Amino acid sequence: MEKIILTGDRPTGKLHLGHYVGSLKRRVELQNSGEFDKIFIMIADAQALTDNADNPEKVRQNIIEVALDYLSCGLDPEKCTIFIQSQVPELCELAFYYMNLVTVQRLQRNPTVKQEIQMRGFSDDEENQNKKGTPVGFFTYPISQASDITAFKATTVPVGVDQAPMIEQTREIVHKFNSVYGETLVLPEMVLPENTTCCRLPGTDGKAKMSKSLGNCIYLSDTSKEIKKKVNSMFTDPEHLQITDPGHVEGNVVFTYLDAFCTTEHFAKFLPEYANLDEMKDHYRRGGLGDGTCKKFLFNIMEEFLAPIRERRKVYEQDIPQVFEILRKGSEVARAQAAKTLEEVKDAMKINYFADKDLIAEQAAKYKAK
Ligand code: TRP
Repeated sequence: MEKIILTGDRPTGKLHLGHYVGSLKRRVELQNSGEFDKIFIMIADAQALTDNADNPEKVRQNIIEVALDYLSCGLDPEKCTIFIQSQVPELCELAFYYMNLVTVQRLQRNPTVKQEIQMRGFSDDEENQNKKGTPVGFFTYPISQASDITAFKATTVPVGVDQAPMIEQTREIVHKFNSVYGETLVLPEMVLPENTTCCRLPGTDGKAKMSKSLGNCIYLSDTSKEIKKKVNSMFTDPEHLQITDPGHVEGNVVFTYLDAFCTTEHFAKFLPEYANLDEMKDHYRRGGLGDGTCKKFLFNIMEEFLAPIRERRKVYEQDIPQVFEILRKGSEVARAQAAKTLEEVKDAMKINYFADKDLIAEQAAKYKAK
């Protein structure tokens, strides 16, 4: 069986470091591993519209931002198909049929959907004052996501932990479809980031995960100056007032980031006083290691991998029409693949009436016999 990757992002903002460690880095590695027959990377604009119906312009503006972020991180249009979800209408058709295989109750139990309904103020329970209600399209997006995944016969879906319930729901739909209509769809596996800190990189304030609305993000497109400013303002240990005070590394964002990014080579290169992160942490705990030194070290590490990304982004920014052309071509390739799967689905469901010679002959015979 072919090994196929499908994954993607909602274009609601520029991508940040959380996206990079949580998924982009892994995607580029998987792309370059040569282990996969096909890789599809989707800009999920239709999914973004499920909770941005009143702000389509935001989604429209961010398509190019996400595309630039992808390309600058090293996703290579020669090796993977980058496309825009809404330009593959077959995905909607698939979702329409999958909807019959999922109950409202099952969707209501989806933990991510549940949480998002609360977070977005869609909830219509007693306590919610504004009672906006949940858009049907939003409520059913896990089904649309199952279409995204199955349309490309994805075997592998690299995502962050928050997406686990979506993959689970997709697997249920695949089981259900195949058991009702015969073996047609491919059962996908999820792959999570390896490093656990990467699964949920906190924001620079240390409060929660990176989120645009909290203003605690480091963007892949940030300048060197912006990054320096953000690193310098990072939350550390409020009890570590004097350099000589003992410090805490738990809950200290600088150390959380070091956990996610630093290697022993970084010590040799930028902070040779320590052989590794454990030694550095010990010194911080004992007292005598200042936040300034830690932040400078972190900044150097981040610059090392962000600078080339920034440079590549600049090159693509000079030729935006070319980037749209990459997306157009990608969408064409994606569409051909999705159309093929849709045909198979309709065959399996026997709703391919005009191609169904048996049906026509059978109906004709029925009426002849009368
Ligand atoms: N839900 C994903 C996100 O919010 C985006 C997405 C849409 C996706 N369809 C997908 C991810 C299919 C993986 C597979 O980022």
